[in-house]
Amino acid sequence: MTLFGIEAARVAAAAAVVATYGGLCAAVALGERRKAAALAARGLALGGARDAQARPLLVVHASQTGAAEQLAWQAAHALHGSALPARVAALGTLAPADLAAAASVLLIASTCGEGDAPDSASPFVRRFMGDAPVESLAGVRYGLLALGDREFANYCAFGRTLDAWLAAHGARALFERIEVDCMDAQGLARWKHALGRLAGVGATLAWQEPERQAWRLARRTHLNPGSSGAPVFHLELEPPPGTLPAWEPGDLLRVRVPHAPDRPRDYSIASIPAEGRAHLLVRQERRADGSLGLASGWLTRDAAVGGVVLLDTLAHRNFRLGANAGRPLILIGNGTGIAGLRAHLSARASRAGARPRNWLVFGERQAAHDFHFRQDVERWHADGSITRLDLAFSRDQAAKHYVQDRLRAQPEAVREWLDDGAAVYVCGSLRGMAAGVEEALREIVGSERLEALIDEGRYRRDIY
Ligand SMILES: Cc1cc2nc3c(=O)[nH]c(=O)nc-3n(C[C@H](O)[C@H](O)[C@H](O)COP(=O)(O)OP(=O)(O)OC[C@H]3O[C@@H](n4cnc5c(N)ncnc54)[C@H](O)[C@@H]3O)c2cc1C
Ligand SMILES: Cc1cc2nc3c(=O)[nH]c(=O)nc-3n(C[C@H](O)[C@H](O)[C@H](O)COP(=O)(O)O)c2cc1C
Repeated sequence: MTLFGIEAARVAAAAAVVATYGGLCAAVALGERRKAAALAARGLALGGARDAQARPLLVVHASQTGAAEQLAWQAAHALHGSALPARVAALGTLAPADLAAAASVLLIASTCGEGDAPDSASPFVRRFMGDAPVESLAGVRYGLLALGDREFANYCAFGRTLDAWLAAHGARALFERIEVDCMDAQGLARWKHALGRLAGVGATLAWQEPERQAWRLARRTHLNPGSSGAPVFHLELEPPPGTLPAWEPGDLLRVRVPHAPDRPRDYSIASIPAEGRAHLLVRQERRADGSLGLASGWLTRDAAVGGVVLLDTLAHRNFRLGANAGRPLILIGNGTGIAGLRAHLSARASRAGARPRNWLVFGERQAAHDFHFRQDVERWHADGSITRLDLAFSRDQAAKHYVQDRLRAQPEAVREWLDDGAAVYVCGSLRGMAAGVEEALREIVGSERLEALIDEGRYRRDIY
């Protein structure tokens, strides 16, 4: 019997493989290995045949804000529960030989920017998906889930490109590419169904859904009355007593609003757990027809202060400090982008002992209305937590200037910080700011050095 081209015998044999989950969490890996050993024993008892050549399934993610990565872990756990051990890895850490070495590969690929690959995948894309010849992937069987958003012109572009690249190198699809718009629940159900068939258990594959908690909207403050820009609100959210999750600076809150619970919206967390609450900055979106954005409208106008907000925290590894903890940071952002930067600054300011330098470059329209978190910024600047501060209020003088112009005005300082090992964190709008900052950095350090910074994980972005 064939399940999407995978023989049932192989499914049983795969149970004999000890799972080695990719190096994200050693403790989980240990627990999973024990569980895999138990499954292996069960597999042998049930199936009998042991295939010494059996290789684990590889679950690969190409993720910008963490959704694809979360789905990869969810898939691995679910398959593991069905005796299909799986290893999880980020595409950017792999080479084609790793794909060729796996029995089968499941890929979850999101698209970011304007139809681009996620930053974390860029080493793979640059090295292997260009013109340079790569080894044949004949023999590789794969299933691909592409995440995207139909509002963008290049819907699921990276997932589609990856699918075409795999096929062009001889890999064979286990099932037709599945595309999911804005984490739509129906699309995800098709993916889960495909994996259930792959595991030979159909709809009974046990999925662990991310836990949605009922938090309380404790306070809402309109930050910029009189501003020429859209209203920005400071929201403070409290978890149920005793359940404060241990998020890290850089992480997101994934909010489900009443009119669109199946299409969650992400917001950068501006605080650290030691502050007791999740602080957000939410810009009230207004559409061309005058109506308010679904999530931002509900959060900033309709949700009752004291009422419930359904959400979960999302690990945003691309924007966490990770290996950059000991490095100086150049933190660049505009508008509500100060939220993601504030969380890093708050953590750095509360750190004991020797503290690496922090350079904040923040831009908005008018200092009088739009200098969000001004008190914190001034306090941290005064006590030395912010070593260097550049502000770009575009409408406070005749000639407009933006954060990228502040960088361009001092290329020597940017190079000196980078020579000293600094990592660059960019948070805020994709259009205008993020592209402008990238262009400025490219001018200042050159394309080769910028790409090296990406490969070393020293150029991190939380952009939207
Ligand atoms: C990683 C990440 C971090 C983020 N962090 C923040 C943050 O810290 N602060 C923040 O404010 N936002 C943040 N966002 C953006 C946030 O997630 C939402 O996208 C934003 O609040 C808009 O959502 P909405 O539901 O209000 O708007 P939607 O209702 O989704 O509308 C958004 C836009 O889509 C278009 N649109 C959609 N439907 C229609 C329609 N029926 N008619 C006409 N036009 C339509 C319009 O252009 C509209 O302006 C972040 C996003 C990401 C991905
Ligand atoms: C800044 C930004 C740019 C995006 N660009 C695209 C795009 O060009 N095409 C597309 O289909 N989806 C695009 N998306 C939608 C994402 O692919 C989608 O939200 C996905 O679920 C994100 O998965 P991730 O968290 O793993 O990165 C974009 C999302 C963001 C925040």
